[in-house]
Amino acid sequence: MKIFVVGANGRVAEELIKLLVERGHSILAGARSVEKVPEMDGVKPVHFDLHWTAAKMAEALENAEVVYFTAGSRGKDLLQTDLYGAVKVMQASEERGIKRYIQLSSIFSMEPERWNDSITDYNIAKMFSDYWLMDKTNLDYTILQPGNLEEKPATGKIEVNVKEAGPNPIPDVASTLATLLDQPNTVKKVIMMHTGDTPIRDALASI
Ligand SMILES: NC(=O)c1ccc[n+]([C@@H]2O[C@H](COP(=O)([O-])OP(=O)(O)OC[C@H]3O[C@@H](n4cnc5c(N)ncnc54)[C@H](OP(=O)(O)O)[C@@H]3O)[C@@H](O)[C@H]2O)c1
Repeated sequence: MKIFVVGANGRVAEELIKLLVERGHSILAGARSVEKVPEMDGVKPVHFDLHWTAAKMAEALENAEVVYFTAGSRGKDLLQTDLYGAVKVMQASEERGIKRYIQLSSIFSMEPERWNDSITDYNIAKMFSDYWLMDKTNLDYTILQPGNLEEKPATGKIEVNVKEAGPNPIPDVASTLATLLDQPNTVKKVIMMHTGDTPIRDALASI
């Protein structure tokens, strides 16, 4: 499939793109700094900024069939990037007739009573972006909500529908995102995750 990845130079996105290419997909790598997108067969860097209008984003999406949203401002530009930027990508995707939409969010985004006080604004941005995707679009979404991301090697194993936050090696989050694509049972689902004992494909099949 032709897949657009928003935030292509991010830590998760770089791993995700490698996996999607290995699985035979062709990638439009949406990034502000196209020159930083690693050169790879099957990957086309596309200039993309979340401050753009939805109409301009729609042009950049070209003929993508799937969109992954993996961008984020690390707390520096939450309204324009993490919240409204995300919403505009959804609007642009719908304008393009794209149906499948996979959003990387954050654990407990929809449970304010469980938020960590130090990142309240971040959680607010994630909460409203997630709710917009669920309530204001007709996209075939999946929202993946890991807890803390860690720069650790892949384990290939996770738990889903978790009740507590836990660590998440970045390659496992990327692999979970990639595997969502061929698991239709995950459409219209919000999935909280952390590292665990269940092979990723089995964990997602259980949803
Ligand atoms: N950190 C955690 O523990 C944690 C836990 C759960 C969920 N998450 C979520 O996972 C996401 C991905 O994590 P990560 O570590 O891979 O993030 P990352 O390395 O910070 O990458 C985020 C990407 O978003 C891009 N971006 C920022 N502002 C943009 C804009 N205005 N237009 C276009 N692109 C923009 C950045 O582009 P540039 O390279 O141009 O800056 C960067 O490539 C986070 O954003 C967060 O929402 C994180």
